[in-house]
Amino acid sequence: MTERQLANSQLGFLDYDPAPESATIARLQPSYGLFIDGKFTDPAGHEQFASENPANESVLATVAQASVDDVDRAVASARRAYTKVWSKTTGTERAKYLYRIARIIQERARELAVVETLDNGKPIRESRDVDIPLAAAHFFYYAGWADKLDHAGFGADPRPLGVAGQIIPWNFPLLMAAWKLAPALAAGNTCVLKPAETTPLSALVLAEILQQAELPDGVVNIVTGDGATGAALVAHPDVDKIAFTGSTEVGRLIQRSVATGDKRLTLELGGKGANIVFDDAPIDEMIEGIIDGIFFNQGHVCCAGSRLLVQETVADEVLRRLVRRVEQLRVGDPIDKNTDVGAINSAAQLARIQELSAFGESEGATRYTSSCVLPEKGYWFAPTVFADVAQSHRIARDEIFGPVLSVLTFRTPEEAVAKANNTNYGLACGVWSEKGSRTLWVAERLRAGVIWANTYNRFDPTSPFGGMRESGFGREGGRHGLEAYLNV
Ligand code: NAI
Ligand code: MG
Repeated sequence: MTERQLANSQLGFLDYDPAPESATIARLQPSYGLFIDGKFTDPAGHEQFASENPANESVLATVAQASVDDVDRAVASARRAYTKVWSKTTGTERAKYLYRIARIIQERARELAVVETLDNGKPIRESRDVDIPLAAAHFFYYAGWADKLDHAGFGADPRPLGVAGQIIPWNFPLLMAAWKLAPALAAGNTCVLKPAETTPLSALVLAEILQQAELPDGVVNIVTGDGATGAALVAHPDVDKIAFTGSTEVGRLIQRSVATGDKRLTLELGGKGANIVFDDAPIDEMIEGIIDGIFFNQGHVCCAGSRLLVQETVADEVLRRLVRRVEQLRVGDPIDKNTDVGAINSAAQLARIQELSAFGESEGATRYTSSCVLPEKGYWFAPTVFADVAQSHRIARDEIFGPVLSVLTFRTPEEAVAKANNTNYGLACGVWSEKGSRTLWVAERLRAGVIWANTYNRFDPTSPFGGMRESGFGREGGRHGLEAYLNV
């Protein structure tokens, strides 16, 4: 019996035995090359780096560090495939490949979920039930558009852009690859994708899936590496479009770098989402919504509901119940099917969360941290709620990108809207109320790309997603997501 189980049994509570998924299902290779022109190849400089499991710091596999020359080879391969094959492939044919990819993702879903959880640290429950099914859903959805582009509202014969360079972050590795690749391919572009350096493995399994689907060589190329590889892709003169998801800081660098050329650009950057709770909202659902809004994926979510705005009349009760619920979250081994909150993705991200949280205390907020016991190895941060937060506090302004919630209060809907909009970001917000008219009144006034009503963190391939202000521009998902890959 573990200490926690012992404590629970003394209190008369039931507890769960560990229910680990098998890590061997991942079937990882010891090392991976770059996926260029339909084959895995060695990087020119033979440089490799390791991807580790953030839950225990073990090395999962080594991957290639792509140099400027390697990026150049990948772009040349994408250009050849575009000119010779993909631009001559009909929409109906492109759709068949996308459907095939979607089906193989479903067939290999269990393996992909384990790979994602090992490489990223997210709970297997989330990779199994959210990341992988949604990735397949994006390929299915855009397969449906590939032969109907004339009906997408962008003119009679919308043309692709050519070669798309796509740079993705580590928080939803396979899902972000699907968000980027599916609409680009449906619209008739070829791609060079660069996964994040801490989570390259599911993209490399996806490369195997593309081979299995017999996607023509060079239509998708996957180059692993760090920021330098990303920068080389952004700077490459033969890339027609850059799609980036990641930090606002790097987004700024990219925007500057493409400013003088004619590359198209979409940026999906950070956020500081407000979850606004009125006193008439059903409290049980709302507590679960707040918890999901900030602790889903350890809070490594660009649209996380990291600022809770709660109406003063219910603030004490909401805070009491939140703190109790946080105490019940099961933090630990991500591969365990009972785990709610997994590992922080990297030592660097953990350091950033620790640094920003320390400001919470030094600036005068009241801290509640789960008393859960954290594993000794790996990168961990106990779920944390800050009350008595003022708008000027750094924890209310900066994106923490971790399991940390800041609670602020308001009295009137006007005040809620003013506080919610008092941010440099504008990605997503949530509104909780029984009254539809009030929800709509608030939603109309919020300056954010996505507004959820009585729910949070809901994603669907048919729905456009994207931000305003420092959260970036351009939309992914839905019909809108096609526009970023068409010459319109
Ligand atoms: P990052 O923005 O550095 O990394 C995202 C991707 O961009 C990675 O693939 C990286 O290799 C690549 N990259 C880095 N520098 C580049 C450059 N100069 N040119 C082209 N590509 C480049 O994000 P990082 O450092 O992992 O996280 C820092 C903070 O950014 C986090 O604490 C979080 O606040 C925010 N973030 C937001 C994300 C979102 O989805 N909105 C995702 C990841 C991070
Ligand atoms: Mg990793």
